[in-house]
Amino acid sequence: MKERSFIMVKPDGMQKRIVGEIISRFEQRGFLLVGARLLRISPELARQHYAEHVDKVFYPSLEQFITGGSVLAMVWEGEGIVAIARAMMGPTDAAQAPSGTIRGDFASSKSFNIIHGSDSPASAEREIALFFKSAELL
Ligand code: RTP
Ligand code: MG
Repeated sequence: MKERSFIMVKPDGMQKRIVGEIISRFEQRGFLLVGARLLRISPELARQHYAEHVDKVFYPSLEQFITGGSVLAMVWEGEGIVAIARAMMGPTDAAQAPSGTIRGDFASSKSFNIIHGSDSPASAEREIALFFKSAELL
């Protein structure tokens, strides 16, 4: 199977009405959308998704943010998608993100940074399984 990544428009990206823009960028880059779901993340799902951060000082505010509105969860497929998506997104701290990246064009803070993308193929597999049943993916 081709490489897949879990990509999610966070509540601030939904509020800014840039879902179409974000989908366009991945389509223009040649990737294939193989799954999509609108949902509101529960605190329990937030703890699973951000398991590596649960014990950090910023976790309570991260959970409040990510559960604070709807998100668009997606699975995108294509060769090198995990690393290329991270490059398209720009660094975590959007204040440091170059123009032309999604975070650099639409955000300016570390806490409200518009989009999530898996940081490795193993993370992608774990995150995709948290949000999708295999029958929901093409
Ligand atoms: P994400 O998982 O949300 O896509 O972001 P990321 O890989 O670029 O960054 P990660 O290190 O996984 O951090 C997850 C989210 O936690 C918030 N954060 N705050 N205050 C801080 O020092 C801090 N560090 C991370 C960010 O909102 C980041 O997106
Ligand atoms: Mg991360």
